[in-house]
Amino acid sequence: MRFVILGSGTGSNAEALLKAWDEGKLGKAEPVAILSDKPEARILQLGKPFGVPGIHVEPGPFRTKLSPEGEQAYIEAIRATKADLVVLAGFMRVLKEPFLEAFPNRIINLHPSLLPSFKGLDGIRQAYEYGVKVTGCTVHFVSGELDGGRIIDQKVVPIERTDSLEDLELKVHAAEHELLPQVVRALAEGGLE
Ligand code: GAR
Repeated sequence: MRFVILGSGTGSNAEALLKAWDEGKLGKAEPVAILSDKPEARILQLGKPFGVPGIHVEPGPFRTKLSPEGEQAYIEAIRATKADLVVLAGFMRVLKEPFLEAFPNRIINLHPSLLPSFKGLDGIRQAYEYGVKVTGCTVHFVSGELDGGRIIDQKVVPIERTDSLEDLELKVHAAEHELLPQVVRALAEGGLE
């Protein structure tokens, strides 16, 4: 199962996927490219030691979505990689039709909360400020609804009374770095259906 990673920033989750793959822990799943809307993003450099190309794809002039031309550019770039699965790991733009129709049931997203709680931006901060006692992370199929598609798997992170926001961020990210490779491996083993 060939997969492509889309991200906008640090890429610690892309790194976790690449490391898991390098260590033979992804089963039949194989990363084939990393795409980013930000030409300077760290994520674009991460595949180099593994022979996985990082490609900047122009998103168009909007801040939180793709322009129609940007959408086509992403669809073409993904098709060129012959990927079976698209993994959104910190890709900070909302995807809509026709992008979703181009890869039906083939796009998954990582979100830093236990959905359906704390959708949208800053999921970790939202949970921290609300004062919930457990949060975590979710991998779900991407639908037209923001952070609303079918949930594949989740990992729980308890919030201790002494945790600062920074402590919680570290814990949720650590949970993400375990969850995302597990899900990608499971999808490769079980088939995407
Ligand atoms: C991750 O925490 C991911 O859950 C979040 O962005 C971060 C990317 O980190 N995604 C969202 O908030 C999507 N709504 P990374 O670049 O280090 O992998």
